[in-house]
Amino acid sequence: MSQREVLEANLGVVRLKVLRGLGDDPSTSHYDTYEVPREEGMVVLNAIHYIQAHIDPSLSARWNCKAARCGSCSAEINGKPRLMCKTRVDTIEGEITVEPMKAFPRLRDLVTDVTENWKVAAMIPAFSPRSPPGNDWRFYQRDVDRSREFRRCIECFLCQDVCHVIREHEADYIGPRWVVKAASLDMHPMDGLNRSKFMKDSGGLGYCNITKCCQEICPEHIVITDDAIIPEKERVVDRYYDPLVWLYRNIPRSQEKFEFTTKKILKAAFWVALVAPVVVIPMIYLAKALLHLPFP
Ligand code: SF4
Ligand code: SF4
Ligand code: FES
Repeated sequence: MSQREVLEANLGVVRLKVLRGLGDDPSTSHYDTYEVPREEGMVVLNAIHYIQAHIDPSLSARWNCKAARCGSCSAEINGKPRLMCKTRVDTIEGEITVEPMKAFPRLRDLVTDVTENWKVAAMIPAFSPRSPPGNDWRFYQRDVDRSREFRRCIECFLCQDVCHVIREHEADYIGPRWVVKAASLDMHPMDGLNRSKFMKDSGGLGYCNITKCCQEICPEHIVITDDAIIPEKERVVDRYYDPLVWLYRNIPRSQEKFEFTTKKILKAAFWVALVAPVVVIPMIYLAKALLHLPFP
């Protein structure tokens, strides 16, 4: 009896349907179905390795650590973005469908091209140390705890894959992974840069409508929407859309600025005083004529 027959006799087989294909050419796309002997504690990546070693060596898949640390083996398993090395086959009933991430161009079979992410990473304004009073660089543990969660990211890009803005619309949105990155810098106690303008204009943060899909699938359990996206949105609103904050930010704080603002206000008042009688009085007469009201 071969090793395969022994395994099959013990635990049965796992049936996998894998989407194959070359590049974005739809004519090469097709599903291949494989039967793999089930093993104790088996994950989907084990089954893919079995196929490569014993059934079809031409099947391409990317992986590295097999320990949910490198973020390489991302795929869509039964339609849900997941790590192949972290998905146990005994948690899935029936046939297992494995497809590449759909938000990125396919290179071959399960391997996608995630280069776009590195271009976005380069756009995010880097850590910029502020100048603390007395050059004192001490900070409290509670201050670092806030952004610590974001450093667990393994850059699997499953959150980018599940985000409907990236997946279905050609919007200029950097995506949840990169909002997490920006938040980790913004919330660092020694960072002195405000990234709100970048997030509003180039980052396209307004496109996110807080569906929380990214948060649900993160294998590192980073609370992406609640802890990163919403605070980043609040920063943008505070800076650009809150009238009280706008007023406070525009209060002149120097003699020069005060004189400049006063001149601007007086100039505006002058033009209103000049234009109002010329426009408003004829309007009143016209309205009265139209409504047949008596003139004074
Ligand atoms: S935030 Fe989570 S889902 Fe997104 S890339 Fe990082 S680890 Fe992956
Ligand atoms: S919460 Fe925002 S970033 Fe996350 S999946 Fe939904 S739209 Fe995309
Ligand atoms: S192989 Fe490294 S995360 Fe799956």
